[in-house]
Amino acid sequence: MPDVGLTLVLACLRAARSVVATTGAGISAESGVPTFRGSGGLWRTFSASDLATPEAFARDPRLVWEWYRWRRDRIRPAKPNAGHFVLARFERTLPHFQLVTQNVDGLHQRAGSRTLIELHGNIWRSRCASGCGRVTEVSGDGGPARSGDAPGTALPTCTCGGLLRPDVVWFGEALEPGNIERAMDAARACDVLLVVGTSAVVYPAAALPRVAHAAGALVVEINVEDTPLTAEADVVLRGPAAEVLPALEALS
Ligand code: OAD
Repeated sequence: MPDVGLTLVLACLRAARSVVATTGAGISAESGVPTFRGSGGLWRTFSASDLATPEAFARDPRLVWEWYRWRRDRIRPAKPNAGHFVLARFERTLPHFQLVTQNVDGLHQRAGSRTLIELHGNIWRSRCASGCGRVTEVSGDGGPARSGDAPGTALPTCTCGGLLRPDVVWFGEALEPGNIERAMDAARACDVLLVVGTSAVVYPAAALPRVAHAAGALVVEINVEDTPLTAEADVVLRGPAAEVLPALEALS
């Protein structure tokens, strides 16, 4: 017999005029990309203040680049999993579907998502740290690099002579205003919000479910364990995203 929670969510998805899914590191866990806070999480081993702040980059850009290159090396062989693919298909099969991710790994795009909002940037882009505004891309799928920002040991530099930095949001930095505004607007307007694989502790992304809930949306958490959001969610689908999302799609 189908799970009651899955059946309820499916009924709401069918009736919804607008759906938002917000994802975190958990959706990429089964692709082999480490999360931040769970067991084996990056912040259990590494110090965010030494590696993911503007101050850290100003103090020791080489160390910060070493860490980001190590992360790129971990992500490069990873492949999108069934959860990413279901969300990519939702873009085509559900009306007004908006995907909002905190992930920087690029796996949603590689699964075929096209209209996603990347709140925390993308590890496969670099931008000038001196403020000339230039953004460069490095291929995230093992293909040839499309810029001078190729893997290597030298510090990557912009054509203006300044240092390049990873085009991600670091602690203490503001999100791109247009991105968070579009995400908040989508959360306010949706009928169903799926919250997939996030510990729901990093703001402003963590505010999206609360905003959607206050505006009357059904909030569905998909996670392997409890988070601060669990008690407030309308439905909790417990399990790995790469299993729960395909199960949801299979019922439809
Ligand atoms: P976290 O590592 O904080 O949380 C990952 C969540 O995914 C946890 O709640 C896990 O229980 C859950 N999880 C693990 N495996 C899962 C699976 N197979 N299926 C479903 N859920 C699973 O990652 P985020 O919430 O994404 O920001 O972290 C938010 C932000 O904090 C990141 O974007 C990053 C980090 O510091 C910056 O670097 C600015």
